[in-house]
Amino acid sequence: MADCKRRAFVKGAGAALGVTAAVGGGFTLYGMKRAWDPLPSVVAAGVTEVDTSAMAPGDVGQVEFRGKPVIVMKKTAEMPANDTRDVVINGERFTVIILICTHLGCIPAWTGEKFKCACHGGEFDSSGVNTFGPPPIPMVIPPFEIQGTKLVLGKEGPEYAKIKAAQA
Ligand code: FES
Repeated sequence: MADCKRRAFVKGAGAALGVTAAVGGGFTLYGMKRAWDPLPSVVAAGVTEVDTSAMAPGDVGQVEFRGKPVIVMKKTAEMPANDTRDVVINGERFTVIILICTHLGCIPAWTGEKFKCACHGGEFDSSGVNTFGPPPIPMVIPPFEIQGTKLVLGKEGPEYAKIKAAQA
């Protein structure tokens, strides 16, 4: 009997948590839209969806993924292609990176040409590869899956597996 009650409580707590997560996701989405997100995006259960269909070359969007900032940038023809890091969606190249400097964890800024870290002068190219200063490795590409024009952060699709294998 006590076991049944405990199970019922656990079940109820799980449902309440699910509702809280959904509401929290909604507020996060609202906050992102107001703050910086030009992209329609949805946050739920550790997965962040970004619709890239309306992005023009050079557009840069930022979303929050599992508490970290992620940049989604549609590359222009002038930006060098990087076959081992570019995320190709509908034939278009995107840079998708966790915007955290691989030196000591500051947040680099996009200058229009490169990512520059104000903390110790580290620099990364338009693909997130370290090119100058103390950062020892490129910025990290988060797990993703491509669904049409949608980028789903938090799932590991075949395109991510290919990039991950190329980085190893
Ligand atoms: Fe970015 Fe040191 S934290 S260069």
